[in-house]
Amino acid sequence: MAKVKITETVLRDAHQSLIATRMPSELMEPILDKMDQVGYHAVECWGGATFDACLRFLKEDPWERLRMLKRHFKNTKLQMLFRGQNILGYNHYADDVVEYFVEKSIANGIDVIRIFDCLNDIRNLETAVKATRKEGGHAQIALCYTLGDAYTLEYWENLARDVENLGADSLCIKDMAGLLLPKEATELVGALKRGTSLPIEMHTHYTSGMASMTYLKAIEAGADIIDTASTPLAMGTSQPSTEVMVAALQGTEYDTGLDLDKLIEISNYFQPYREECIKSGLLSTKVLGVDIKALKYQVPGGMLSNLISQLHQAGKDEKLQEVLEEVPRVRKDFGEPPLVTPSSQIVGTQAVMNVITGERYKMVPKESYKLVAGEFGRTVKPMDEEMLKKVLKGEKQMTDRPADHIPPQLEQFKEECKEWMQQPEDVLSYALFPQVAKDFFQYRDAQKSGIALKNADKENKAYPV
Ligand code: CO
Repeated sequence: MAKVKITETVLRDAHQSLIATRMPSELMEPILDKMDQVGYHAVECWGGATFDACLRFLKEDPWERLRMLKRHFKNTKLQMLFRGQNILGYNHYADDVVEYFVEKSIANGIDVIRIFDCLNDIRNLETAVKATRKEGGHAQIALCYTLGDAYTLEYWENLARDVENLGADSLCIKDMAGLLLPKEATELVGALKRGTSLPIEMHTHYTSGMASMTYLKAIEAGADIIDTASTPLAMGTSQPSTEVMVAALQGTEYDTGLDLDKLIEISNYFQPYREECIKSGLLSTKVLGVDIKALKYQVPGGMLSNLISQLHQAGKDEKLQEVLEEVPRVRKDFGEPPLVTPSSQIVGTQAVMNVITGERYKMVPKESYKLVAGEFGRTVKPMDEEMLKKVLKGEKQMTDRPADHIPPQLEQFKEECKEWMQQPEDVLSYALFPQVAKDFFQYRDAQKSGIALKNADKENKAYPV
């Protein structure tokens, strides 16, 4: 029996996609013991934007959240999302920082690390994969799914082979924009299976309304694991519903074997939270439906709204159609990268610049320059010669692994944040988000002196007069 396995995303991607990653730990905690009894393949619960959101908006220590999760999930593997050499940040880091982050993630409770790179440049995954295996974790490589001339079935097949050769334990297709159509899922999974015998996991978003059909086709083609979210935080720009997929597969040869009643109890737990989020405006109905534009322009939903707001700020709302036509041209000039953070913002902003200045590559933002100069890694296709000349002005493109140009950084970070250190992990929070972490550390110190007061206050209330 080809049983399909489920990775539950409600504690990470689902709330990242729908409510800007704002679910606090105290909302999660009461339901975790029940979730631990379900028998999920894994629970994705950490990494991605959760780390930044904890420190910046929720005033929570992300490491403390991870330890709390681990205390409850005694039988279930914990999974995190990891942006290759960028870790969870937006820049490339030295290998020593990547290795230490992996070591501490696993030491605090992570079992599966899903590692990806926005250019699918395998070299940017090496250090994280090796470190994960060294620490005894499961290293999953996620390939960013995208469309374009370069992305043939042979491309995916060869990449799957590279993923296996790199030493990954499993492979994931990460369809961040919901572009994978059902028919293409059949062909894609077939190509991956020709390239590797590793387990294959599918990750998509419901943005274009395709996701559950795509999953079904991928499963029929041999996908082993699908990512789904508990119903109250499913669909829209999030994943398909866990309960719906489990019910759809029941009684077939792909039956997940999960108990629908238990899943419904979990769903019931999150339902009032969904309603609360809608009421407060945190969950907008805009992200809950199907976005036909995502289907038509094949750009991630977030990218489209960025373009619209950039044009609005420049007072050039009427240029949207022109910009949408310029996006694929810039992408082609830039070597046809997948459109995912940060390449989606870079390509989008460059397209806006090209249109509003009336001259292509007259204005080149710093991030554009870095991408063109090879500082993010290698693109699938060579870049356009004319554009290179205009942007690099004679400078040479970097062709080796970007992190080879970065000397060790860990000791310097330790030195910089030593006055706030309360645990070894603090240096990693600081390395990724220096200013945000500093603000958090100061808040934490202030809280410590305030805790006594808070408790005293509670005690008073416990004895009403
Ligand atoms: Co996702």
